[in-house]
Amino acid sequence: MWRYPSLAEWVVTASHCIFTDGPNQDQAITPSQISVVLGEHDRISTTETQIRKQFFVEKIITHPGYVRATFKDDIALLKLSTKADLNIYTPACLPPTGTSFVGKTGTVYGWGTTSSGGQVSNKLLKVNQDVVSIATCKTVFYNSILDGMLCAGGVLGKDSCQGDSGGPFTVPDATNIHSLAGVVSWGDGCAKAGSYGIYADVAYYNAWLQEQFAANGGITLT
Ligand code: ARG
Repeated sequence: MWRYPSLAEWVVTASHCIFTDGPNQDQAITPSQISVVLGEHDRISTTETQIRKQFFVEKIITHPGYVRATFKDDIALLKLSTKADLNIYTPACLPPTGTSFVGKTGTVYGWGTTSSGGQVSNKLLKVNQDVVSIATCKTVFYNSILDGMLCAGGVLGKDSCQGDSGGPFTVPDATNIHSLAGVVSWGDGCAKAGSYGIYADVAYYNAWLQEQFAANGGITLT
């Protein structure tokens, strides 16, 4: 019988989150410059959650095909220096290569801005988004949509936005097990009617992700 690994050390994020802003945008940050917090909800309150835990990062793996100007291959992996207990911090499943989420409804989560150029949120917010086909997405973004991108949303006022990048877009199955369908990547402003949020298509990168796990100590299955 298959069951969840009970401990894990891998976090999927966006490559563009790993490079510093400003004139040195092609300068990658180092593991000591970031950490991962699990179990957070309200970033301001120090008493709201008992499970908030900060993890240090042992290794950052950006996708070698990442291009800042086009958001090509905007996916990256963080290896935590200690394992997270997945009975406490609920993971999302890695979708197999070739999985299509077109027509499905997922949820994107983040502390990003609540309008384009607006203020970030103190509390974690979420919004549902429908996944659209690449053909539909190209009617808006044309050749900016590259292999490995996934498009969702298009409804006025409902979208991911700045500061949500690197965060999860998950799609539940019939038993409410969530798969990580996308990683927040880019858009044209936020939440415009008929526009879409663009995500790294995690299923497309399954083989690359598996290679990185295998080359860096594997995944802990217990
Ligand atoms: N690039 C943004 C970030 O770094 C994410 C933008 C997502 N935009 C959208 N309209 N869904 O946080």
